[in-house]
Amino acid sequence: MNMNDIILKKRDGGKLTQAEIQYFVKGYVAEEIPDYQASALLMAIYFQKMDKEETFELTNAMRYSGDNIDLSGIKGIKVDKHSTGGVGDKTTLIVAPLAAACGVPIAKMSGRGLGFTGGTVDKLEAIPGFQTALEAGQFLSQVNEIGISVIGQTAHITPADKKLYALRDVTGTVENLSLIAASIMSKKLAAGSDAIVLDVKCGNGAFMDNLADAAALGRMMCEIGVAAGRRTVAAITDMSQPLGQAVGNSLEIIEAIETLKGNGPEDITELSLRLAGIMIYLGGRVKTHAEGQIMAQQALVSGAGLEKLKSFIAKQGGDTAVVDDYSRFPRASVKKDIVAWESGFVHGISAKSIGLASQHTGAGRATKEDAVDLAAGIYIHKKVGDRVYKGESLATVYGNNKNKVANAEKEAAKAFSINREKPDRPEMMKEIL
Ligand code: URA
Repeated sequence: MNMNDIILKKRDGGKLTQAEIQYFVKGYVAEEIPDYQASALLMAIYFQKMDKEETFELTNAMRYSGDNIDLSGIKGIKVDKHSTGGVGDKTTLIVAPLAAACGVPIAKMSGRGLGFTGGTVDKLEAIPGFQTALEAGQFLSQVNEIGISVIGQTAHITPADKKLYALRDVTGTVENLSLIAASIMSKKLAAGSDAIVLDVKCGNGAFMDNLADAAALGRMMCEIGVAAGRRTVAAITDMSQPLGQAVGNSLEIIEAIETLKGNGPEDITELSLRLAGIMIYLGGRVKTHAEGQIMAQQALVSGAGLEKLKSFIAKQGGDTAVVDDYSRFPRASVKKDIVAWESGFVHGISAKSIGLASQHTGAGRATKEDAVDLAAGIYIHKKVGDRVYKGESLATVYGNNKNKVANAEKEAAKAFSINREKPDRPEMMKEIL
C-alpha cells in the first residue's frame, strides 16, 4: 500500500477501505506521511466525499490513535455534551451544572477556542485560580464526589484529530461533513461517556449554514455514536446570530452565572434548559426530554444549578466569590460603543462577523500559540427583532489594546443590519434527531 495510490483512488471518486484509512491515519500520526500528501487526500475527500462506512472507519482510526478514557469508576450514566462550535456559546457552563444538580454525572473534556469560535476551557480560565488540568484520579473522584468536572482535553486523546484538524484549518478542508463528524465523534467516543448530546449549530456563525447540511451532520454523528454503543441525540440549533449577549471569556462566564441566577437572555436560557432536559433524559432520571426540561427548570429556579457551579469552581481551585462579585474577573481598560446609524429594528447580526471582531479584540486566537485576553470581547445590547433608535448603543467592544479595539469595532459594526420592518426572531431549536 502507498499513500499516492490512496490519494489517486479518492481523487477519482473511489471508496477507501478500512486498511487504507488506517494506513493513512497511523502513518500521518507517526509522521511517516508528510503534510503535503495528507493535504492532498483531505482535499480529495472534500470534493469526492466519503460514504457512511468510510466515515465510520475514519472515526475509529482517529479514536484509537490515542488513549480511550475509562469512566467506569464513576457511578451512574455519564452524559457528555458537545457543540459543533459557535459564537457566544457558553451553554456548557450552564447545562453541565444544571444536569449535575439533577443527578447526571458530568465528566467532561473541553477544548480551547480557535479562529472565531470560543472554547469552554478558555472561558473557565477567566475564573481566577481555576484549574483545567487535573490528574485522571482527581478528575474521576471529583465526579463521584460532587457530580461534575470539566477539564481540558489531554494530549493523549485522539492525536490524529489534533494533527488533522490543524492541517484542515490551513488547507481549506474544514467544512466537510465526514471530516467534521469523524473529528468530533472520535473525541467524544474516546472521552468515555455513556451518552452524548450534540448541539449542532446552524447558521452563518457555524460550519453548516443551512438546516439540511446541519441535519445531515447531526444524523451522521448520531449513527456513529449509536454504532459505538452510545445513546446519542443531536439538536440542531440556531447560530444565525450570536448566542446570548456576551462574546468573550469573562463576559461569557458572567452571562452564564446570570443565567443560572435566572437573569439570562431568553435564547441562552431556552437553549440551556432544552439541552439540559435531553441530558437528564439520557442520564435516565426522567422518561422524556420534556420532563427533563422541567427538572432542569426546577434546578434553575431553586438555585441548585448555581450551587453546583459554585462547588465545581471551588473543587477546581477557582475563586467562588466571582459568582457574587464580577469585579474579581479580569477587567478591560478600553471600551467602545457601536451606535445605531438609524432607527428601526435589528434585522440581522452576523455571528461570524461578531466572532471575528471578538477575536480581533484579543479574546480569541489566530494560532494555537496565541494568548487570549480574558477581559476582551463584545457585549451585544440589541438582538435580532429588538427596536433601536438612532444613536443608541448596539454593542460595546471591550479590550486592553486601543488598536485592537478600534479594529474590532469596525468589524463588529459590519455585523449589524437595521430595517424598518420588525423581523421574526430566529427559532432556537430547529430539530431534535
Ligand atoms: N469541531 C471539531 O472538533 N472538529 C471539526 O472538524 C469541526 C468542529
